[in-house]
Amino acid sequence: MTSIKEISLDQATGSLILADDVTNVHGQVLVNAGTPLRREIIAFLAKHGIATVKVRTTSPAKNTELSTVTNLISAGTRLKMVQTMQNAFRNHSGIAAHLPYMRECIDEVIGELSMQENLLIYLSDIRQQGGYLYGHCVDVGVFAVAFGMAMGLPRDDIYVLGLGGLLHDYGKTRVPGEILEKNCRLTPDEFEQVKKHTSFGYNILRIETHVDSRIALMALQHHERPDGRGYPWGIGDDKIHPLARIVAVADVYDALITDRVYRPRIPAHEALGIINAGAGTQFDPKVVEAVNKIIVPYYIGSAVKLDNGTTGAVLRINTLEPARPVVWTREGIINLLRERNLQIVAVV
Ligand SMILES: [Fe+2]
Repeated sequence: MTSIKEISLDQATGSLILADDVTNVHGQVLVNAGTPLRREIIAFLAKHGIATVKVRTTSPAKNTELSTVTNLISAGTRLKMVQTMQNAFRNHSGIAAHLPYMRECIDEVIGELSMQENLLIYLSDIRQQGGYLYGHCVDVGVFAVAFGMAMGLPRDDIYVLGLGGLLHDYGKTRVPGEILEKNCRLTPDEFEQVKKHTSFGYNILRIETHVDSRIALMALQHHERPDGRGYPWGIGDDKIHPLARIVAVADVYDALITDRVYRPRIPAHEALGIINAGAGTQFDPKVVEAVNKIIVPYYIGSAVKLDNGTTGAVLRINTLEPARPVVWTREGIINLLRERNLQIVAVV
């Protein structure tokens, strides 16, 4: 688990990473967050009279068995985010006026997630208020921040990632509403129009609004795939921006676990199975690895069947491997974290 602590500069060593930008008395950035505290950096900061710095520390992961899992973000923050996105999508005068509110929302999300002792995405995090599009953008923003944190990204990347998640589908404001709201299969021509939301989003964000290029790239590339079978360009593997790869997984996972007009939601464990099956072809395996660390695919109390034929109920979640919980059965309690030869095969 990664935490942030303030240390005096004489305690700094090369193995520590700066958690925040270090600025001088005029507010000018001397060294960026994410920089390792090498000897020359420490000397440079000392020369500028810096006495303390904030660093990220990573302690070895240890398991905790949880009998309850809290929501990722508070109901108040979520409601504020949905309203912010509703305003942004409905007001066609321009996205620029809404960006400060979105930044505020992402700051709150990062603040709330940083306070969590165990960063886990539980099923109760998928409740959506408002229209699908706004709720989806909020979920993708929150999930992307959580995935970025699980991957140990620097704060600046996580912040940009959250904004990119909120805005990834903004290009849909230029796709006819009757196509987006259609409750049956799209014609090939309609699908071609929907695909354009990626380049529409890029144009609005980068060319018309001049936001950070990474945010615009997340809008452009979140449907690209490592195997080159995505859209709009079908660019493969290393050409997809690393942050767009994270939004791609958050986007698909959230779409799968949410009710749509043309199909009901898919249970979280099945959605996670689909994400895992797409590692390396549809999704970046490094992102999938992080997702497996934090998504809790079973409700506490849900009835499950193991591959030895035993049925039982999920009793506690193992934070180290949320997909391998502690299961109560008639024969006794089975901790799947330790019983590696057993696995859940169905929710019954
Ligand atoms: Fe999209």
